[in-house]
Amino acid sequence: MKKFKRYTITSALPYANGPLHIGHIAGAYLPADTYVRFLRLRGEDVVYVCGSDEHGVAITLGAKKEGLTPKAFVDKYHNIMKKAFEDFGISFDIYSRTSNEIHYKTAQEFFTKINDQNLFTIDSSDQYYDEEEKIFLADRYIIGTCPNCANPNAYGDQCEKCGTSLSPKQLINPRSTVSGKTPVLRPTKHWYFPLDKFEGWLKEWLVEGHKDDWKTNVYGQCKSWIDQGLQPRSITRDLDWGIPVPLPEAKGKVLYVWFDAPIGYISATKELKGKDWEKYWKDPETRLIHFIGKDNIVFHCIIFPSMLKANGEFILPDNVPANEFLNLEGEKLSTSRNHAVWLHEYLQEFPGRRDELRYVLTSISPETKDADFTWSDYQKKVNSELVAILGNFVNRVMVLTWKYFDGKVPSEKEIAGTTEKRKKILAYYNQAHTDLDKTVKEMINCLQTFKFREAQFQMMNLARIGNKFLADAEPWKLAKEDMEAVAAILNYALTVVGNIAVACEPFLPDAAKSIKKQLNASGLDKKWNELWTKEQLVHTVPEGHQLNAAELLYKNIEDEDIARQVSRLKKTESKPMEATNLKAIKPEVVFDDFSKLDIRIGKVVAAEKMEKSDKLLKLTINAGVDTRTILSGIAKHYSAEEMVGKQVAFIANLAPRKMMGIESQGMILSAEDSDGKLRLIRPDEIVNPGSTVS
Ligand code: MF3
Ligand code: ZN
Repeated sequence: MKKFKRYTITSALPYANGPLHIGHIAGAYLPADTYVRFLRLRGEDVVYVCGSDEHGVAITLGAKKEGLTPKAFVDKYHNIMKKAFEDFGISFDIYSRTSNEIHYKTAQEFFTKINDQNLFTIDSSDQYYDEEEKIFLADRYIIGTCPNCANPNAYGDQCEKCGTSLSPKQLINPRSTVSGKTPVLRPTKHWYFPLDKFEGWLKEWLVEGHKDDWKTNVYGQCKSWIDQGLQPRSITRDLDWGIPVPLPEAKGKVLYVWFDAPIGYISATKELKGKDWEKYWKDPETRLIHFIGKDNIVFHCIIFPSMLKANGEFILPDNVPANEFLNLEGEKLSTSRNHAVWLHEYLQEFPGRRDELRYVLTSISPETKDADFTWSDYQKKVNSELVAILGNFVNRVMVLTWKYFDGKVPSEKEIAGTTEKRKKILAYYNQAHTDLDKTVKEMINCLQTFKFREAQFQMMNLARIGNKFLADAEPWKLAKEDMEAVAAILNYALTVVGNIAVACEPFLPDAAKSIKKQLNASGLDKKWNELWTKEQLVHTVPEGHQLNAAELLYKNIEDEDIARQVSRLKKTESKPMEATNLKAIKPEVVFDDFSKLDIRIGKVVAAEKMEKSDKLLKLTINAGVDTRTILSGIAKHYSAEEMVGKQVAFIANLAPRKMMGIESQGMILSAEDSDGKLRLIRPDEIVNPGSTVS
């Protein structure tokens, strides 16, 4: 393998349009963080950059839904996401954002550099336009029937059913995903990046050059893309949110989000390193690695490298170890259906249990195929692996050392094989030693080749081997007859614990911290390459060294913890933060409009279910000024019995309306939750019937 001088590691910039869930984490962040921690432990020069992706239609539409300006919208989510990453312990050197000035400048310069070489083409063409929303409908904002397989919900760029890549005009019966309306064609001018001209180069650099070192899922997707032939890609958009195209003749146009976002990796490095940034992007001895999910492969393996190549000043990614998808309880993760485990919620529900989630996500990491997260598997892995194998081993060694040696590291003097028992112990020791050496080598090998699942398994093997050694050697049985042997056994067991503290840090940083604290040993903060010069076990805690008190690394996850999570999912009670599927704010009204409404409080004095309707309750309301009948569509949410005696808010001057033969004299007010559930609006305290609401 080529030796590199330094590393630039990136994780996909997440759209600042909603909170993070475990699918994001397992895809692009946890593997990168594990790898970066490994590199840092080996003393490598590494920058790990990420940040929020704050442009594109995903943002403008999200903002609209929440009734915020795009800027207020990205500010909100940028902060939420930054905090969740921090709280979870993803160790970015910088978490930046693409609305920063430095990024605008960097992206515009990048564009200009390519433009100066006359590489872009300009093309005027008809594109679908949503007249209601007043936007051009690019990419995924237009759906229609697939001309190939008749799937009625094919996207403007691809049919997900048959996989055909499409252009919007090929769709039959196109409709806007924003307004649902049929769009019209309108001419507009755009700048195109000539991807076709890079086909030959891509065949050489990627298809030939990375045949053997890229993951097969990544390589396969790229090759089939290139084999289908490449077309120029438009890299500008008609939007008012984004980075302005730096040309006077491109007024009102912004850079396409997928043009500016990956340049964000460069801007973030600049922001982090100041003048020193260039070597991380321009020196061929720097290894650039992008961690992403599989939906980003084409952008990171084909388009962005071609942009870097066209610019001419930059190095190219040496590897892009993209992951497949993570499912949840056998179903796709879905933000809109709230079928997800949200990172910030997990951290709230399971405080102090970051390692547990890291562990389980790495152990099911979708490295080669889609994987499934289930709560019962989470519980099983925590209890039978973290608690029973790792936690148990460390704790046994600590407790025994305290019991027999007052917490002082006992003598490591070699025990000669004079008795039958000692001969056996020596054999166990030799076996453990051989196994441990092999395991460390294997773990490092897996980390280097992005096999984090297997690497973590090897790390856990250190504890498995340690447990076996203890179980075989049985020091507790020797305590009466041969304390020298007990000392030797525990000394070695402590060495294993020390090595685990070092080895588990990329995977389980909190455990690493706790074990180091228990061992009270500063030597454990040495770099891996000093500690494991020959990738071998080292003695980490010297004889006579005083340990700190034992503490438990992990506790069992109880059935009820899991049951709560499972029922949350079923009820979809939890919201993705302030719910991403809120209705847009209605057009502005003046105060006079509002004051025309007469809203009052009344008391329900009688209620009955309307026959022949499963929705309507007939309520008799004491409205102070009068007693009236109101029909209300809340029968699915409240029974007639429970309504009686309740105070409710209602509109008192709504024109009466006849329903099912009965006149309704007003309307009861209620709040509709995002899952459609209705809850009555009621005063905070009892008030006189007829009180007005304003
Ligand atoms: N925001 C994109 C997504 O969530 C990823 C952007 S990666 C970058 O799919 F390279 F463009 F930054
Ligand atoms: Zn199709």
